[in-house]
Amino acid sequence: MSTHFFTASSLDGFIATQEHSLDWLLKQDVDAEGPMAYQQFEKTIGALAMGASTYEWVLEHEEGRWGYAQPTWVFTHRDLLIPAAADVTLTHAPIAEVHAAMAAAAGGKDLWVVGGGDLAGQFADAGLLDEVWVQFAPVTLGSGAPLLPRTLDLELLEVARNRDFMCGRYRVVRA
Ligand SMILES: NC(=O)c1ccc[n+]([C@@H]2O[C@H](COP(=O)([O-])OP(=O)(O)OC[C@H]3O[C@@H](n4cnc5c(N)ncnc54)[C@H](OP(=O)(O)O)[C@@H]3O)[C@@H](O)[C@H]2O)c1
Repeated sequence: MSTHFFTASSLDGFIATQEHSLDWLLKQDVDAEGPMAYQQFEKTIGALAMGASTYEWVLEHEEGRWGYAQPTWVFTHRDLLIPAAADVTLTHAPIAEVHAAMAAAAGGKDLWVVGGGDLAGQFADAGLLDEVWVQFAPVTLGSGAPLLPRTLDLELLEVARNRDFMCGRYRVVRA
């Protein structure tokens, strides 16, 4: 079982604008079943973790519907709304504790840290982030939500082009 941070990014390392817009991403061309794309990746995932901003973005853009079948832990200090039938747990517990709960719920499948970048960094800080998958869109944003605001050594495991995207899969090298 591995823990992955799978995300798209601008070329200059932002995963959303400062206003939490993903318009720059959603206008790009991608083959959903192509190399390193979401469709295949998602099948390997047994549990998800995400931060409050990411969760709120998903709810806002899916008009209250919840698109994930897997159990999901949302890190927040607030009492956020949970859509009916969504398997969502709100938490501000230590990362290691949540990771253990995710692993227990994942049925042997991998874990996905959806974002944001600092939450992925918190998993790395705890020694609990194994891989980073990034789809780089052909755009620079200049500022925004950072991809992974940590100092980490990564080993490049795989590269692919998926239409507009340059995709890389990296292993987190632990000291
Ligand atoms: N490009 C992509 O593929 C992609 C992927 C994922 C996300 N995104 C976007 O990127 C942006 C990320 O936003 P973001 O940088 O603000 O990150 P985020 O992780 O989505 O949200 C940050 C918030 O999560 C909560 N949080 C984080 N760590 C916590 C902890 N240990 N305990 C309790 N609560 C914790 C805090 O919320 P509280 O205020 O509730 O305390 C914090 O303000 C969003 O707009 C999202 O939609 C893009």
